[in-house]
Amino acid sequence: MYVSENNRDDSDRTAFRKAEKKYKLYYDNNASSKNKKKKQPKPVDLTEVLDFRSILECYLRNGALPPGVIVLHENFTSPVFSLQNRPGFYFIPGALTMEKQCSLIRESLTDFPQPPNRTNHNAMYGPIQDVFGAAKEGKVLVEDNSPNSSSETDADVDHGDCKEWKFATQKEVLLRKCKSVSASTLLRKLRWSTLGLQFDWSKRNYDMSLPHNKIPEALCELAKQLAKSALPAGVEFNPEAAIVNYFGLGDTLGGHLDDMEADWSKPIVSLSLGCKAIFLLGGKSREDSPLAMFLRSGDVVLMAGDARECFHGVPRIFTDEENAEIGHLEKQLTHEEDLCFLQYIQTSRININIRQVF
Ligand code: OGA
Ligand code: MN
Repeated sequence: MYVSENNRDDSDRTAFRKAEKKYKLYYDNNASSKNKKKKQPKPVDLTEVLDFRSILECYLRNGALPPGVIVLHENFTSPVFSLQNRPGFYFIPGALTMEKQCSLIRESLTDFPQPPNRTNHNAMYGPIQDVFGAAKEGKVLVEDNSPNSSSETDADVDHGDCKEWKFATQKEVLLRKCKSVSASTLLRKLRWSTLGLQFDWSKRNYDMSLPHNKIPEALCELAKQLAKSALPAGVEFNPEAAIVNYFGLGDTLGGHLDDMEADWSKPIVSLSLGCKAIFLLGGKSREDSPLAMFLRSGDVVLMAGDARECFHGVPRIFTDEENAEIGHLEKQLTHEEDLCFLQYIQTSRININIRQVF
């Protein structure tokens, strides 16, 4: 059948872009226009999304595997799957215990975004202490324009206008005329933080001149253990940097390559926490059709060797009760002091991406 291609925007039409559009969240305008109900997400066809959890269940039940899926070795708590036509890609469903998932969620919100670790808010506000705690207390970040507040003489070149931003109570803000933003808005808009060697997103490289702490010991050990599945015996993985991505409903991670690390034989260790997502694993060109798969809380992905050169991204997260699949976290995070974490994670996904840089 002849199909008009007049309106085709070629930049939008690589196989990768098409898949992103297929799974991305869109709203049905028509459905809601009449009765002004809550806008409804457009239905999405998930039949082609690979589901490693059901592959695992089936495998544990009767040892069966779908064509093209391989079990690597079972000297691990959970089986490690790989794909015949995607060498270097590994999927470990449910690799993180419930307790580990909870502690990583807590850390991702409290410790990981603390200076000297940088976040997406640095460019605008400079280093900010404890956004999560400030959001819990209903605080507001205000531009401190008192005469001595300017840090123009500081060597800190982080924030463009050299003004300092500090948390204050809402009452204090009412008394002063100054620019402000609530901590809860900052928390909602937190998109990334960086651990260990600091990655500069504007230049897309590691900035060795930036002050940094080592990756926390427990996370480092966990990544080393997980990386073993993707490395020959005796070869060590040395975690030097990690990027923590925070996703809310509608947030996506566009197709990209992680190519700023020196040694591509070393895997990227990628941990999923919170709401379920769709991950796209493409080929070395954006023209290659990507494979879509679900990522759930506790799943671990390793990308080494050839897979390090493959485009990948996250076009969708699911925050509705049926699809988010975080029931186990809801049962775990029931203590009073955990409710704020539960509230966050019920509509969010966190990804911790650990790398060896050199
Ligand atoms: C990344 C990345 C994947 C994910 O941060 O480079 O590919 O699952 N993340 O969020
Ligand atoms: Mn990546």
